[in-house]
Amino acid sequence: MSLRLEVFDDDEWADRVADRWATVMRDAPASRLCLPTGETPVPVYVEAARLIDFTAATVFMLDEFDLPAGHPARCDSTLRRDLLDHLAAPPAAVHTLNPAAPDPAAECRRYESLVHRQGLDLTLLGLGGNGHLGLNEPGSTADAPTRVVRLAPSTIEAAARYGPNAEPEAGMTLGMHSILASNEIWLLVSGAHKAEILVQTLSGPIGPNVPATYIRNHPNALVLADRSAAGLLVHAPPNGQQG
Ligand code: PGA
Repeated sequence: MSLRLEVFDDDEWADRVADRWATVMRDAPASRLCLPTGETPVPVYVEAARLIDFTAATVFMLDEFDLPAGHPARCDSTLRRDLLDHLAAPPAAVHTLNPAAPDPAAECRRYESLVHRQGLDLTLLGLGGNGHLGLNEPGSTADAPTRVVRLAPSTIEAAARYGPNAEPEAGMTLGMHSILASNEIWLLVSGAHKAEILVQTLSGPIGPNVPATYIRNHPNALVLADRSAAGLLVHAPPNGQQG
């Protein structure tokens, strides 16, 4: 199956994504999920917390900033605030990357082998304004492992919105290789500020300049975009239909 695209009106988008996710979770409550943070998934998580029973699910975080434990801009703090704290009962397990580990390379290997041993059923992703997935910044190849990365200036700037002293220069990310090994991938894209990079993602050359393009080679990937993000696509499908 090649990359599929569904577009929803802006005011319906989060509900429709959460509904779809709830359907998946009803069929497979013990799903192993890889979850992103950032602005994009927030409204989806609000609705998901209401609709989905995560108690049998396992969560793997997609990435983490190199900030002190407990820092509000860290991805684990954000996921807690945006999703986990709102659940009636926690998931069976939540796995995180620890950039403060004494041996960061060993921490990356630990995480990657855990992910590979368990296998990801569904990976949700946001789309970086520069085309990154997780912290796989431009320049990342499709076989990039889980690793410590230096962050692109736009990524540092995006982290800074979470308050003072939130300007990490580095982070850890699940590698492109592991992301692409997920059984299913949903790329969540909302807002007109993502319209240009969505065009590049769907129709630009597949390669490291825009790591998100690699999902076009994935057998079961789906782009769930709102109408604003899809605004520059020449052939955006009608509401809720696949294109
Ligand atoms: P955003 O970030 O959801 O905050 O726009 C997406 C990303 O950088 O992966």
